[in-house]
Amino acid sequence: MRKYHSSDVLVIGSGAAGLTLAHHLSQHATVAVLSKNAVNEGSTWFAQGGIAAVLDDQDSVEAHVADTLIAGGGLCHEDAVRFTVERSRDAIRWLIDQGVNFTRENGNGDFHLTREGGHSHRRIIHSADATGQAVHSTLIDKVREQPNITIYEHHVALNLITQADRGSRKLRCTGAYALSKKDDQVHVFQARTVVLATGGASKVYLYTSNPDSASGDGIAMAWRAGCRVANMEFNQFHPTCLFHPKAKTFLITEALRGEGAYLRLPDGQRFMHRFHDLGELAPRDVVARAIDHEMKRLGCDCLYLDISHKSPAFIAEHFPTVKARCLEFGIDITQEPIPVVPAAHYTCGGVVVDNNGQTDLQNLYAIGETSFTGLHGANRMASNSLLECIVYAQSAAEHILSKLADLAAPDRSAPWDESRVTNSDEDVIISHNWDELRRFMWDYVGIVRTHKRLQRATHRIKLLQKEIAEYYSNYKVSSDLIELRNLATVAELIIRSASTRKESRGLHFSLDYPDRSPIARDTVLVPTNFAAQDIIVSTEG
Ligand code: FAD
Ligand code: SIN
Repeated sequence: MRKYHSSDVLVIGSGAAGLTLAHHLSQHATVAVLSKNAVNEGSTWFAQGGIAAVLDDQDSVEAHVADTLIAGGGLCHEDAVRFTVERSRDAIRWLIDQGVNFTRENGNGDFHLTREGGHSHRRIIHSADATGQAVHSTLIDKVREQPNITIYEHHVALNLITQADRGSRKLRCTGAYALSKKDDQVHVFQARTVVLATGGASKVYLYTSNPDSASGDGIAMAWRAGCRVANMEFNQFHPTCLFHPKAKTFLITEALRGEGAYLRLPDGQRFMHRFHDLGELAPRDVVARAIDHEMKRLGCDCLYLDISHKSPAFIAEHFPTVKARCLEFGIDITQEPIPVVPAAHYTCGGVVVDNNGQTDLQNLYAIGETSFTGLHGANRMASNSLLECIVYAQSAAEHILSKLADLAAPDRSAPWDESRVTNSDEDVIISHNWDELRRFMWDYVGIVRTHKRLQRATHRIKLLQKEIAEYYSNYKVSSDLIELRNLATVAELIIRSASTRKESRGLHFSLDYPDRSPIARDTVLVPTNFAAQDIIVSTEG
């Protein structure tokens, strides 16, 4: 099997961000798309509620911008928010043109718009409660039709390749090494431009709504290659994931609350009015903290989300996926409340980029959940993330195409060096460390933090990283080892960022610093091998 692959653009990740970008490029460039599992395995496929956009005449760009800024706790970059929201209508139009089947009022009228937390208008366009599947399957079909795009499923990118630029005194990204799960070999993917579209890092927590792929690989690879990473302390916990001993966490979409569902205590009382004027539709950080607070106060394992006061026909039309999934566990949501708990859901921080998705490293872009654009601030507003994927994929594609003709083909990279490693005979270390890491992140760096818990987490992560580094340098890479190493890097970045923030803001809540500081600042971590400085080293392996 060939172990060297070359294309104009290498896209790492096949979610909404990666596939939208690949599609925009495909008329003008050859594109290789890597997916570490099957092409449809990523958060995009599981998205439920919908995509926020200004589509209704009663709504406005100003209102969507204002809601996003409020939800973001004073930390959104207003230019990024405007950039995204102003392009929201076109982004949705593009998806409709590709064939995405969004739900219409009464089956064939105008598009039905639902509401979610923090939104002052109905502005969430959706495909019942399986929007991600509708968007993703459409994009997969479209991309598969393009002869210029090659999809490499079951290829796990493990490190970026950089070379010294002949013109400037800077490094540039020229590809990636990727482990093929098909032949268990590390392949070289060389390209003139590389795009990280690897999704988020919520798998760093024990309980998460995300699929297993969300191990922060793009953030860790970019960090190792010298890119800045920002606001990693802002991990969003979705307030309502199904609580059932046999269910691997399943999301109960916020659109239920948008359509009138109530949150209830075990005795049936509603409680959200005690925490926020918007009640069940308060921003997500407020609702998740309120649930966490009430669960701890009452010592109970879960609270309840109740939509049973709506008609069974309404529930079946709007929430067929949630209804069917809950029924699998014996819960009839038309008749009884759903047991729910919060779980890690979205990574608001990520690789620092500009409005074109350009990172600090020349010819390296980052788009979608792996990036930090400034849109989400301290707390992402519901359904703004698929929008961000589509908008930034388009702007990055335009930027890449405007530069591609002037980019020299990279020098051929050396193959992956396996001369000093052997097969592991102790895989138990990987599974043990993986488990330990996700557990202490949940316990010490979760919804409510303290200085002491963060200190504990700092000690633990240092020990784990030492062990993992030793393991990595002695044994052949496996996909579990690649993910564990990345999770540990991302966990360290989260802990460092959380320890730096001496206030409570948005998703970062500290019992030691419960007040919000009058000055809003991003937490920007700069690696020692910062890529935007003049060259000191020439390769990264
Ligand atoms: P993903 O869709 O996560 O794709 C990442 C891709 O990168 C995958 O193909 C993966 O295989 C690949 N990858 C990762 N690492 C590597 C590697 N090392 N090598 C090769 N490939 C790699 N947002 C909304 O706006 N509206 C919603 O209604 C909504 N609902 C959600 C419901 C759930 C249950 C979840 C989990 C998220 C939801 N979100 C929602 C968030 C949203 O779905 C994600 O933020 C978005 O889909 C991220 O898209 P992405 O393309 O950046 O990444
Ligand atoms: C949901 O449907 O509740 C998820 C929406 C989002 O994460 O944006």
